[in-house]
Amino acid sequence: MNKDMKKILFSEDQIRSRCIELGRQISDDYTAMGSSPLLVGLLRGSVPFMAELIKHLDLDAQYDFMDVTSYAGTKSTGDIKIIKDLDTSIEGKDILLVEDIVDTGRTIKAVKELMHNKGARSVKVVTLLDKPERREVEEVAEYVGFEIANEFVVGFGMDFDQRYRCLPYVGVLKDEMYQ
Ligand code: IMP
Repeated sequence: MNKDMKKILFSEDQIRSRCIELGRQISDDYTAMGSSPLLVGLLRGSVPFMAELIKHLDLDAQYDFMDVTSYAGTKSTGDIKIIKDLDTSIEGKDILLVEDIVDTGRTIKAVKELMHNKGARSVKVVTLLDKPERREVEEVAEYVGFEIANEFVVGFGMDFDQRYRCLPYVGVLKDEMYQ
């Protein structure tokens, strides 16, 4: 375990096992709809999760990435600015947004609206982690890896000040790391 970590919440094996289950569920659902989704990963946190999940999809899926940020300060406002847009047209497509963690829900709410405005046929969300206690807007992810309590986590794509994204597990930092 990295020396800065207090505890590991989800190991690499647990994440892989859950991605296998999610992959099966997503494949069954889109197959039943007769559709192949365009997976849209939100940079940068979703990259390790996207990489694991796509290995377990039995679909003719494609993927692309977007980078968005909220306009004002540190508090998420829901007004997002596009840092990197998609390279693919989404008109008439079934979009599966891939997130590392849904917190207030403002990011997925804004991105879903954007996708609908750009003519997507459907927009669903898959997230590795969900913190339902922190929700400020009524948004749900259709596919959730794990629900967690109101605790700040790092690893498997998630950062604290851009650090710890490369850890192969999800964990909680020692309290002193925030001082
Ligand atoms: P939301 O718009 O409040 O749902 O914010 C979601 C984004 O906040 C995620 O994609 C992460 O980038 C970031 N975030 C929220 N909670 C955490 C956490 O516990 N660790 C790392 N990043 C987090």
